[in-house]
Amino acid sequence: MVPRKIAAGNWKMNGDLAALSQLDQMAGSIDGGCDVVICPPALLIHPMASKAAPGIHVGGQDCHAKTSGAHTGDLAAAQLHDAGATHVILGHSERRADHAETDADVSAKAIAAHQAELITIICVGETEDQRDSGDTLQVISGQLAGSVPDCATAANTVIAYEPVWAIGTGRTPTDDQIAEVHARLRADLSDRFDDGAQMSLLYGGSVKPANATQIFALPHVNGALVGGASLKAADFTPIIQALSKA
Ligand code: PGA
Repeated sequence: MVPRKIAAGNWKMNGDLAALSQLDQMAGSIDGGCDVVICPPALLIHPMASKAAPGIHVGGQDCHAKTSGAHTGDLAAAQLHDAGATHVILGHSERRADHAETDADVSAKAIAAHQAELITIICVGETEDQRDSGDTLQVISGQLAGSVPDCATAANTVIAYEPVWAIGTGRTPTDDQIAEVHARLRADLSDRFDDGAQMSLLYGGSVKPANATQIFALPHVNGALVGGASLKAADFTPIIQALSKA
């Protein structure tokens, strides 16, 4: 079995009810060649899932590691699932930086998400300083080992490689840099998990219609986690189509 191809959109803290109108056009471009997931702000999960745009899965951007309780402002994985989410992004670098999330936090959240039957999209990625110091592969392997729990399988876990310096900057790594990290991720996952060769590996960071085809042609790249270019159907649709054809 080959890894599933996935085009995932991360809307971050963008979008409102009116933005749901983008979904119809996005859904129109889906031909079954890849899975499509959109992770909007939590308030939009239920209306987006209820809209039931054919072929579009809906995901959260974070969840708490506990199942319920006194955690003001947080959301439990089961609540995301109840609202209609099938996926959740965990350990995005903005969560790691803004909320001091550690690998252990991400792993605990992933366990909670799997218990709630959510598919986790677990993010790893080096900072520019770490790349400049030659530490990229070591950082990536460390984050992967610490953030992905033992209960991960190809059915419940997707890994996204997102170099911090490429997110929202318009800069992308070279093909060789992406391929090198994805090869390491594949090797680490295959060493640790029986079905590690089947886990989907996404690249994220300034993916656009103009560079999608080239990125999707790289070995061990099974899709993308897309921020800015997932907000508008005019941008996300060609990315979905490029992946479908890849
Ligand atoms: P970007 O964001 O596509 O806007 O660079 C990617 C992400 O943070 O998931």
